[in-house]
Amino acid sequence: MTTTETPAEDLRNSLVDYIREAGHLHSRSIERALRRVPRHLFVPQASLQDAYANKAIIIKPGSEGGRPTSCASQPTVMAMMLGQLDAHPGERVLEIGAGTGYNAALLADLVGQTGQVTTIDIHPDVSGQAQLRLEETGYGRVHVVTGDGALGASDHAPYDRIIVTVGPWDLPPAWFHQLAPGGRLVVPLHWRGQARSVAFVHEDGVLRASDSQLCGFISMVGEGQDGERTGHLAEGVALSWDRDQPIDLDALQGVLKAPRTTVWSGASVVPNESTDRIWLRLSGTEPGTCRFAATPEAVKSGLCSPAFAYRSPGVVEGTSLAYLTLRGPEPEATERRWELGAIGHGPSRAQLAERVCDQIRAWDRDRVEQPVITAYPAGAPIGERANGQIMEKQFTRLVVAFHTPTPSSCPPPEDEK
Ligand SMILES: C[S@@+](CC[C@H](N)C(=O)[O-])C[C@H]1O[C@@H](n2cnc3c(N)ncnc32)[C@H](O)[C@@H]1O
Repeated sequence: MTTTETPAEDLRNSLVDYIREAGHLHSRSIERALRRVPRHLFVPQASLQDAYANKAIIIKPGSEGGRPTSCASQPTVMAMMLGQLDAHPGERVLEIGAGTGYNAALLADLVGQTGQVTTIDIHPDVSGQAQLRLEETGYGRVHVVTGDGALGASDHAPYDRIIVTVGPWDLPPAWFHQLAPGGRLVVPLHWRGQARSVAFVHEDGVLRASDSQLCGFISMVGEGQDGERTGHLAEGVALSWDRDQPIDLDALQGVLKAPRTTVWSGASVVPNESTDRIWLRLSGTEPGTCRFAATPEAVKSGLCSPAFAYRSPGVVEGTSLAYLTLRGPEPEATERRWELGAIGHGPSRAQLAERVCDQIRAWDRDRVEQPVITAYPAGAPIGERANGQIMEKQFTRLVVAFHTPTPSSCPPPEDEK
């Protein structure tokens, strides 16, 4: 740990040490920027302790207890995304979602005096505050724009790097047009009920990525961003899916009360071990992948038993549904491991639960494998149809394709109850 003179610097260095130890720091220049830029001055409403805790800080609450309208993002997530962005001195960067202005200041530090940063926020009060904070902290050279980030900021284009710090459902055409050939777009994109920060590279008019990381962001507002559908399957249980999926919630009503089949995969995790790439894998192999979310009451009542109550991957096919579940170690077990499996309901419950388990097992064989994620402008012909799943958005066709073939399923197990 580095010690310095002021409490703010000490706390900042402790936070950066934490980010590094947690494995989210991938370059010395990002570390230097995080140690230099005074986060607390961008969130003056927060205490010094909160400003340097690894958490998001709300600066503009949402209406009536809804999700916040604006916040300073969680520092580990910011560091991870800056690593994906890989910005260098002299580059031109566009940020969508100015928020507090803190990330824009980090970007300005990374590209230096010879580079250029433009940041844009849709809310004038938010962009106004960001501009003020950037000037006060010596980063007045950042261009702050008020407007819909979906249109980009053509005045300063083309950009070598674009970073989106709000969660879009789609990639608007301006981001393709304003990104230089070979440039990078880092964006926390939503598809099939999950959000992942995808590091795209601009290649011949398409965006292609081989890295995506789990993240969570407030949703982007504006045209083309309302493609996610959410509805209740039963009291306290919701499904979220995309508008191009033929999921009929009415046809699924009552399915959780129908007989269930549970299939166990043989793959297991230890406490805090991530399973997010199972969801990623399902989205690249199963067209009915969606989000299954239940309240603690719905779980306690025995209606359902998802792996993670608030968000687990599920797969819908017609009037059948399967979702990820887990079971804890036996009380006498020496190692604390949780086995992953799937619970199915509906006429194809056994096959569907088995297919989810196939993907768990494929993930278990290579837990770090990433698919190739390609975004084509809507209507563009798609080259590598084989193996991948195609998601039709308003402005783009997203293809998620794994290279590893999935083995054929084992015979379906016996039904329960
Ligand atoms: C998580 S905050 C960004 C955090 C920010 N980068 C920082 O360092 O504090 C997301 C921001 O995106 C903004 N936003 C939402 N929809 C937008 C849109 N269509 N265009 C531009 N900004 C948008 C919100 O007003 C909010 O301030």
